[in-house]
Amino acid sequence: MRAFFATAALGLYSLLANAQANPAVDAFLARQLPISKAGLLANIGPDGSRSSGAKAGVVIASPSTQDPDYLYTWTRDASLVFQEVVAQFTRGEDPSLRKNIDDFVASQAQLQTVSNPSGTISTGGLGEPKFNIDLTQYTGAWGRPQRDGPPLRSIALIGYANWLLENGNATHLRQRVWPVIKLDLDYTARFWNYTGFDLWEEVSSSSFFTTVAQHRALHEGATLATALGETSSATSYSTQAANVLCFQQSYWNPSRNYVTANTGGGRSGIDANTLLASVHTFDPAAGCDNDTFQPCSEKALANHKAYVDAFRSIYRINNGIPSTSAVATGRYSEDVYYGGQPWYLTTAVAAEQLYDALIVWNKQQSLEVTGISLAFFRQFSSSVQVGSYASTTPTFTTLTNAIRAYADGFIAVIQKYTPADGSLAEQYHRETGSPLSAKHLTWSYASLLTASAARRGVEPKGWGAANATIPPGQCGTNVGPTVSVTFNVNAQTVWGAESIYITGSIDQLSGWSPERAIQLSADRYPTWSVTLQLPTDTNFSYKYIRKNGNQVVWESDPDRSNSSPSTGTKTINDVWKS
Ligand SMILES: *[C@@H]1O[C@H](CO)[C@@H](O)[C@H](O)[C@H]1NC(C)=O
Ligand SMILES: *[C@@H]1O[C@H](CO)[C@@H](O)[C@H](O)[C@H]1NC(C)=O
Ligand SMILES: *[C@@H]1O[C@H](CO)[C@@H](O)[C@H](O)[C@H]1NC(C)=O
Ligand SMILES: *[C@@H]1O[C@H](CO)[C@@H](O)[C@H](O)[C@H]1NC(C)=O
Ligand SMILES: *[C@@H]1O[C@H](CO)[C@@H](O)[C@H](O)[C@H]1NC(C)=O
Repeated sequence: MRAFFATAALGLYSLLANAQANPAVDAFLARQLPISKAGLLANIGPDGSRSSGAKAGVVIASPSTQDPDYLYTWTRDASLVFQEVVAQFTRGEDPSLRKNIDDFVASQAQLQTVSNPSGTISTGGLGEPKFNIDLTQYTGAWGRPQRDGPPLRSIALIGYANWLLENGNATHLRQRVWPVIKLDLDYTARFWNYTGFDLWEEVSSSSFFTTVAQHRALHEGATLATALGETSSATSYSTQAANVLCFQQSYWNPSRNYVTANTGGGRSGIDANTLLASVHTFDPAAGCDNDTFQPCSEKALANHKAYVDAFRSIYRINNGIPSTSAVATGRYSEDVYYGGQPWYLTTAVAAEQLYDALIVWNKQQSLEVTGISLAFFRQFSSSVQVGSYASTTPTFTTLTNAIRAYADGFIAVIQKYTPADGSLAEQYHRETGSPLSAKHLTWSYASLLTASAARRGVEPKGWGAANATIPPGQCGTNVGPTVSVTFNVNAQTVWGAESIYITGSIDQLSGWSPERAIQLSADRYPTWSVTLQLPTDTNFSYKYIRKNGNQVVWESDPDRSNSSPSTGTKTINDVWKS
């Protein structure tokens, strides 16, 4: 009887906790969503009330013409906005959006042909980041090229293409939509392995957000190409998708538990870039998949904590907020643009990633706490341990309720700093919270629409992330001459429970991925050993790790370094560094 009452009380508690989620946030969103949608549509030509002069289907970034002048169309911003427009249309929420989508397709088909400082249609011009709103080239100095535009645009258009296929309109798809998608995917397949500017237009290197968008676009593009019988395109896209997915793994920073946003730039690398990557790669059918960086994957959660924590002490408006509650967040902590301020869209994405994670945990009726995500989960229950928790356990209820409240906290921050008329600028002030920089930023409006759809539990259409896996040994094969290198490490282990693995900076050493780390053999225990084929004349860094079930223990810093010879073989003898 006592057990029965305890369970009943717990059930009632979780029911109440869900029902009372956050009435203030509910009320804010009920008011704000129509304003956000109207704000978004006002910035799309030719009829948008704030976008006069914009050609049909052209999304202006903001109507602001000075301090800053954002009256241009960026391929990135426009494509992210149209991903949401297509999502609303294909969910059947608003059939009138079809006209906007058809206008967008036509405008982008024209834009792809406009020669510009990045090149022509066939020489890299698709990497041009922004254009004038009458669809002519912008010739001023700029951070170009930016390689996220084409994959983001094709993701938006593939959403529409799949709808056309399902609704018996393959003719329109083949004639008007596929040609635009194909140009973007051909560009992406050809140029993904070149550097370009990041989404904030400041760092020229490789950038995680761009890489993740490239992978998703090529992967779902290959599926669409197959459906259309375009087999040679499908082969090219799927081959490059696999290469991009390998490269994507290399951004993880295992000793600090976050994803480094850019390979260049000389910053910490903690950046909203990576949270945006996670929500834009979300596919509920993939669960908490690690390789595609799903919102509830262990690395994405560890990364979320590193990101939010980077802003706790730098903005005065965050003073006094407990270290386990939501705060205002910006692009990255070293930001100096407009004095380095919090942004609405980056605060919204901190909420959206967690709403996405909750969708999956509720769907699979369980959640997993791993060594990598432990610190994230301990924000919500300081005693939680590594393990798997079914939805029937109190731990699952405690964690998911607290994470939902935490996510709502980010929306509450936005609410606090949104003016009474609901208009959303780009930024808000770190000391006063007043709106700052470009007014009516289209992307700010879109970010609240996508976050609140996730909060309502709306599942986005999948893109096949579940079958975008990395077969063992696939990354970095066929890269030229190799030599045999034997790694021996003397390590005491718990018999039958622990094993020793190696991971390091090159693909043959699993690109610092503990999941794909290579196991050594204990045939000569306590010497653990493995012989690998490595590219010749190559410097690399590496570490040994020990795994015991889900638990991963790394050797102490610094990383080891060594090199492969040009010919012959090499043996490296190490002793485990605890
Ligand atoms: C196919 O879609 C286009 C674009 O929306 C539309 O103009 C056309 O009428 C559609 N055709 C059919 C058969 O539904
Ligand atoms: C190109 O791909 C290789 C292999 O993944 C990677 O090591 C290199 O950093 C990539 N370069 C760029 C600019 O993407
Ligand atoms: C992700 O990797 C961890 C090991 O680091 C593993 O415990 C977990 O099950 C993996 N998740 C999925 C969904 O494969
Ligand atoms: C990949 O996954 C998607 C849905 O998750 C499915 O529709 C598709 O058929 C899969 N493709 C393959 C090759 O298994
Ligand atoms: C490897 O490292 C050595 C010593 O630090 C350096 O002289 C050499 O140029 C490096 N080789 C490559 C291919 O980077």
